[in-house]
Amino acid sequence: MTRRRSFIQQSALIAGGLWLSPTLLHARQQTAPSDRVRVALIGANNMGFGILRHHLALAEVDCVAICDVDQNVLEKRLKEVEDATGKRPEGFTDFRKLLEKKDLDAVIIGTPDHWHCLIAVAACQAGKDVYVEKPMANSIGECDLMTQAAAKYSRIMQVGQQQRAGQAFIESRDLVKSGYLGKIRKVNIWSNFNYGLGNEIKPLTTVPEGVDYDFWLGPAPKREFNPNRFHGSWRHFWDYGGGLMSDWGVHLLDMAIWVEENPSAPSIVMTYAKNVNKENRDRDTFDTMNVLFPKKDFLINYDMNGGLQSGPYNKPYGIAYVGELGTLIVNRNGYEIYPEWDGTAKAPKCEAKKLEGTTESHNLHVANFVECIKARNQPSCPPEAGRLAALHAHIPNIAARIGAEQLIWDDQKREFVGNAAANALIWPEYREPWTLPKV
Ligand SMILES: NC(=O)c1ccc[n+]([C@@H]2O[C@H](COP(=O)([O-])OP(=O)(O)OC[C@H]3O[C@@H](n4cnc5c(N)ncnc54)[C@H](O)[C@@H]3O)[C@@H](O)[C@H]2O)c1
Repeated sequence: MTRRRSFIQQSALIAGGLWLSPTLLHARQQTAPSDRVRVALIGANNMGFGILRHHLALAEVDCVAICDVDQNVLEKRLKEVEDATGKRPEGFTDFRKLLEKKDLDAVIIGTPDHWHCLIAVAACQAGKDVYVEKPMANSIGECDLMTQAAAKYSRIMQVGQQQRAGQAFIESRDLVKSGYLGKIRKVNIWSNFNYGLGNEIKPLTTVPEGVDYDFWLGPAPKREFNPNRFHGSWRHFWDYGGGLMSDWGVHLLDMAIWVEENPSAPSIVMTYAKNVNKENRDRDTFDTMNVLFPKKDFLINYDMNGGLQSGPYNKPYGIAYVGELGTLIVNRNGYEIYPEWDGTAKAPKCEAKKLEGTTESHNLHVANFVECIKARNQPSCPPEAGRLAALHAHIPNIAARIGAEQLIWDDQKREFVGNAAANALIWPEYREPWTLPKV
């Protein structure tokens, strides 16, 4: 490992959760201009800003610009960065203007999902590297465009599936792949979250001052302003997101694909979807979904409940890798192995193991991105991996929307077999003047 690399990793580890300590500020001043990475943030309210903070916790990263269509968010974030670093980034409300900047190496995309593709492709075309939040995009087709754009314009694109950098997940994957649990027959995934119900129904209101709501909607259908279809809660509406399935499902399903010998697109997908609790709730997405993905190596069995917050092994969400010798349960707080019992030998079939404690992973995922920008290497969640994870979330959502119990996906042809209604949902319809980007 080079000294620079180890420095990046250490800075990320030490400062990832902090907001610029004096030691870090000093280290920032020591980094040579030629070694600096200049980033800009597009979509700054919540997760995007969190990801920017992790970038700024690396001594060699500068934030040169922030863009948001909500002036209130924009002003607040510009000030926060100025207060922390002593330098005020340039402010923008139109990402296209931001992308004209020459003194810019990479962008972080922290907008709602319906914007990811347009901005990411434009960034690639402008010669910028991209950290795009998960799910990679709000449709199957848009993920393809982004994958093509990163390849065509030789851009580094990291998809924000940060669990790939989490110690508990890395150790779990290594144990599974080493054969420690024997042959894996199933990967059971559960994700139970209260917020999956969506907000209570609210009346339409006027657009908050400082917000360009038409720009916020962008390629999505025109609507009057409702606070539920805005910051944070947009994820419960198909026009902008995919509910709990693409919010949490995409993270957890990624961990199942990750342990496949050759990570693959789903082929047959069986979906049960229902709305159990919709009373007074404002959402398009489903609160109850069970999905089976039979894969070459094992069955992925996904179980989701919006509005519930407890689950198997006393965990609201998790992944169980079920092997012949034992089952490994993992989530962001650690993992534990439950060995099978050998009745003849009167002994467990493998040794129990445990890792406890939260392992923050956003910082390491960001550090990996910055390393890859400099070394021009593929990051830990490159576009194709982001596309596969998103496919596993979008296909069940499409099945739920059209009421199909089973869909067959042909990844070569990039279409569903014999289902016109499902094929009609591969691509979104963009509202003028926005058009699907051409790569
Ligand atoms: N990796 C994770 O663990 C994780 C966690 C939460 C959210 N996310 C992802 O992060 C993204 C943002 O989610 P959030 O919860 O922060 O959403 P949010 O609604 O809180 O913030 C989105 C921001 O983007 C701005 N915006 C919208 N359109 C824009 C445009 N065209 N140009 C510039 N700014 C625009 C909004 O005004 C808002 O400030 C989503 O893709 C979400 O799935 C990832």
